[in-house]
Amino acid sequence: MTVSDMSVHKRTAAREAADMVKSGMVVGLGTGSTAAYMIERLGERVAEGLEIFGIPTSDDSEDKAIKAGIPLTDFSAHRRIDIAIDGADEVQRGSLNLIKGLGGALLREKIVAQAAKRFVVIVDGTKPVDLLGERAPVPVEVISFGWECTAERLAACGARGVKPRADRAGSLFVTDTGNMILDCHFGPIENPEDLAEKIDRIVGVVEHGMFLNMASDVLVATTEGVERWE
Ligand code: 5RP
Repeated sequence: MTVSDMSVHKRTAAREAADMVKSGMVVGLGTGSTAAYMIERLGERVAEGLEIFGIPTSDDSEDKAIKAGIPLTDFSAHRRIDIAIDGADEVQRGSLNLIKGLGGALLREKIVAQAAKRFVVIVDGTKPVDLLGERAPVPVEVISFGWECTAERLAACGARGVKPRADRAGSLFVTDTGNMILDCHFGPIENPEDLAEKIDRIVGVVEHGMFLNMASDVLVATTEGVERWE
């Protein structure tokens, strides 16, 4: 599949999800290239009269939403989100479990997904896997103090080559919430619940990128059209 096919598929899934949004809804706005197409489509619908408020999952999505003309709100005004729409790095066939966070926004994304009545995931056909970890590392957001110890504990859980993520310029990547990301290569994960529990117990870990039992719908766009998993 070419990069341009992939972009077309991301856009198709994103527009279909954006068209599920109704006036009066509070919408969680995901992060990444697929979510960017969804924000663009919601902006078009707002210009046509759709009345919504968005809660962005990153500074980047906030900028995009403002440019698209989507009115924004936050959790001080709205504790519940009607629908959150976001991309993913891997989606497990059958379970709808996800790996997210290669864009570095996993913490805010998980807070928004958890607050959402419906969490819709939009992906192209390269993202479905039989087991999480087949291709993507699990991004783990950690506080910088003592990260070396946190990395050793993650390695003891089976992660290989645990290193702080760097940005494109080679400098340390810092999340919107001021933390570091350790990308953890576990390989195919047979029991994600068990691994998630172990990682959650490590002091210094803020959150990890396995989103288990959170997605309500996954829209997978391929050349054959959009498949919906529920
Ligand atoms: C950001 C994410 C993204 O949703 C994920 O990386 C997918 O990105 P893209 O739509 O660009 O493939 O989790 O933290």
